[in-house]
Formats: sequence, C-alpha cells, structure tokens
Amino acid sequence: MSFYITTPIYYVNSEPHHGHAYTTIAADVVARHHRQRGEDVFFLTGTDEHGTKIAQAAEERGLTPQQHVDVMAPKYRALAAAVGASNDFFIRTTDPEHEAFVQAFVEKLRAAGDIEKRTYGGLYCTACEGFWYERDLTPEGLCPQHGIKPVWLEEENYYFLLSRYQDRLAAFFKADPGFVKPRSRYNEALSFIEQGLEDISISRSSITWGIPVPWDQEQVIYVWVDALINYLSALTYARPDEDLSARYWPAFHFLAKDILKFHAVIWPALLMSAGYDLPTGELIHGYLLVGGEKMSKTRGNTLDPFAVIEDMGAEPLRYYLMREVTLGQDGDVSLEGLRARYNNELANELGNLLSRTVSMIGKYRDGVIPQAGPEGDGLATVASEGERMVATATAQYGELNVTGALDSIWEYVRRLNRLVEEEAPWKLAKDEAQAGRLDAVLNGLASGLRLVALAVYPVVPLTAVEILSRLGQDVGDADLLLDTASWSALVPAPVVLGPPLFPRLETEG
Ligand code: MSP
Repeated sequence: MSFYITTPIYYVNSEPHHGHAYTTIAADVVARHHRQRGEDVFFLTGTDEHGTKIAQAAEERGLTPQQHVDVMAPKYRALAAAVGASNDFFIRTTDPEHEAFVQAFVEKLRAAGDIEKRTYGGLYCTACEGFWYERDLTPEGLCPQHGIKPVWLEEENYYFLLSRYQDRLAAFFKADPGFVKPRSRYNEALSFIEQGLEDISISRSSITWGIPVPWDQEQVIYVWVDALINYLSALTYARPDEDLSARYWPAFHFLAKDILKFHAVIWPALLMSAGYDLPTGELIHGYLLVGGEKMSKTRGNTLDPFAVIEDMGAEPLRYYLMREVTLGQDGDVSLEGLRARYNNELANELGNLLSRTVSMIGKYRDGVIPQAGPEGDGLATVASEGERMVATATAQYGELNVTGALDSIWEYVRRLNRLVEEEAPWKLAKDEAQAGRLDAVLNGLASGLRLVALAVYPVVPLTAVEILSRLGQDVGDADLLLDTASWSALVPAPVVLGPPLFPRLETEG
C-alpha cells in the first residue's frame, strides 16, 4: 500500500517561521506513522517561487527574482531538515522540470476546452495573490486576511472555466464527506461551491516573473495554478529516470485554512479538467497564534524556529506543537509553554522513567534486562494496558488526532512511573525471596518503555530511537514497525547508560 502526503509549498518572500515549521512537522508525523504501518510512503514539501509577491520582495532587496529565490529557498530546505522532516523530495517551482510539466498541464486544460481569453478587473491583494469581492473586505476596505489595501487590477487574461465544474464538485463533495477534515472546513468548502463558482483567471500579463503560457509568450501562468501543480510534477522528476506518479498519486494534502479554497475547490476542478484522479483527502489545520494573533510574515510577528531548535533541539518543539495544538484548531504557543511541557512531560515523566529503569537494571541485574519469569497479576495488567495504549494511539494517529495519541501515550508513561513507586525495586532488591518479582518488574519497565518508544516515534523519532538503544534493542527500520509492538517482543539485552534524555531547563530567573 502506498501513501503520498504533501505540505503546501511555502512562499519565499521572507524568512521561514514557526507556522511553516508546524505544517511540516504535522505532515512528517503522519508520514512517519504510515511508514511504521509498513506502507510505501512519499512525503513532499518545497517552495513556491513565482508571482508578484516574490518579484516585489526581490525588488525591495535590490535583487533579481532569481537571485532572491536562490537565497531564500535553501532556508526553507534547511527548516525542513532542522525540524527533522523525513521528506523524500524538496520541490522548487523554479525547477525546469516543474516548469515544463506546468506548461503541459495547462495545455491539457486548453485541450479540454476549459480555457478562454477575457478581460477582468478586480481588487487584488498581493499578499494573498488573489482577488477579493468588495463585500468581503473589512469596513476600511482592507484585505481581511492581511489587513492591507487591495489594488485595482484589470487585464486581458486566460480564464479557466471553473463554473463548469460546480455540479461535479458538489457531487464529489457529497459522495465523500470525509474529503476535507475537519467537518467545519468541509462545510465551508461545500457551501462556497454551492453559492456558485465564477471562472478564474489563470494567467497574468502585467508581470514577467512566472512560467510563460505555452501558446502566448506575453502572459505568465497565475502563481496559484503553477503552485498547485507541484503536487503532481514532483513525482515525475523526484527520482532520476523514474516516474513515480502511478506508484503514489493521488496525494493527501496538509494545509491551513487560509488556502482552503485553492486546495478544496480550484485544485480538484483543475484535476478533473486535466483528467487526473482527485486527492484522497485534505487536512486543514488551524493557525498558531502568538498572544492571540496569527503568526505571519506579512504581519511581522514571527518567532524564529531556528533559535528554539538551536537551544534545545527539534524534538521538544515537535512534541510541544503536536501536544499543545489540536490539528484543525487554532492554538496559542509560547516559549514559556514549551519550557513548561519540556520540564514536566519530557524531562520529569519520560526522561526520568528511562533513567531510573536503566540505572536499576544496571545496579540490580549487572546491566542486563532480566527474563520476566512468572509475572503476577499486577504486571499482566500493565502488559495489556501497554498493548492497548499502542492500539489506541495507532487508531488516533490514523484519525489525525496526534494530540489524542500523545495523551494516550503519556497516560501510560505515568502508569509506568506509578509502577516504580508501587513496587519499590530498591526494597525488592534487599530481599532475596523477591528476586523473581524484581526480575518481572525490571523486565516490565523495559517492555513498557519499548512500547512507549514505538508509539511516540512519529512525534519524537530521535528520542524513540534513543530509548530503544539504551534498552539494548535494535533500531533498524523493521524494528520500528508497529507490528513488532507486542509486550513480549523485548529482547533481554544489556542496557546502555547515558546522560539524561532531556536535561531539566532552569526556570527563568
Ligand atoms: N505558496 C502558498 C501555498 C501554495 S501550495 C500549492 C502559500 N504559502 S505560505 O508561505 O503563505 O504558506 C501558507 C501555509 O503555511 C499555511 O497554509 C500553513 O500550512 C502554513 N502557515 C503559515 N502561517 C501559519 C500559522 N501562523 N499557523 C499555522 N500554519 C501556518 O500560501
């Protein structure tokens, strides 16, 4: 079974920020989960490099657009690497292979009879790279998303006859109410379709920074059409001499609500016209807010994910964002919140559990995980709870409820910490008659921690691998598969002592 997952390709008009990191991390978690299910996964991210917004940014910096994108795109590639993304390819819309594919794609729209030349005037917001109706602007006449004044733009352009797809889109939505998640976003997209779709301009004559319309060199292809097609074009050249389209298409898309219409309405219609299968689904997540406001380059209230990662690594950031903000809802994030969850949940609860387990095995069993022997009632329950935790978390990841999966996992981490308190291995160790019980408890803690590592792997992959290594377990790809997640699959191996997984952060003085 194959699974293809994408993030939006990010505009390179300014620096990457936490909002981009968030989508990439969320998609990475889901990609890793599907790999753990043994599926053949392809995960794509990249950069959107054409259009007015990029051309303007370049001009402000005194660079050509090409120079500008060549400086900026590597920063987005570096962000994906810094957050630990396991993307299989990084696409840039200035790749010549993408450009050629986009031209061939719009030729298909034209061959389908869905392109016409017309004159249109409207209020255009450069930050959105889209037109607004006057009635949708703020009372001050500003773009409701960016708070800036749209400008009147009138041009003769090529139009895609989106209106023709209204009924087919509505029928498609009704046949698959799970196409867009969460349900509120599905309803929003469907009601947008049902209100009536207008044809959309898919070329620009006023700018030159874009892919030329193949049959009219005076026009360039509208940046949104250019951008959406990346999800298809990437598969044709991500691997040399290999077309991955048949293996992976259609995709599952991750994005935030700002670009819902483009993905849930325009993109499916373009695909229908050009004769492709539609995406398998779309997850629309909310915004990360800072002090209640959307983080955005245009608004200028960004946080620097690179600084956080340099300070404490990517894993605490991944954990915090996935734990704090439910996919689909907005959520306020802060450095204080991150530090609090780091100390309480990562350092105290998970990190300490591992240190105690490994050091007790070191002290009482010469550093080798003992065989379980007869378990006794208490541990049989801990074992079945552990396997149930993995099954529950797996189902939750499958429903894109990552926050829920982390809740289930942490409930079990706490259960294991209670086991240490209840059994007090340091007391058992003093009584030779309790040797079997001590074996069972130490083996149980290691078995339970192994299940925790497998379950938490998609969110904090390096931590998971480190836990398994300290427990002396193998950590190849096959060892991370979910079907190895049974209690008794622990190998009674020598443990490895090491520094704390998450050294406590000093509380800010
Ligand atoms: N280039 C287009 C997308 C083309 S996809 C074919 C674009 N780029 S963007 O750089 O503005 O990125 C928008 C996306 O970045 C959002 O949909 C979301 O995935 C992510 N985010 C940007 N700011 C964000 C927050 N403050 N919070 C959450 N996600 C954010 O639109």
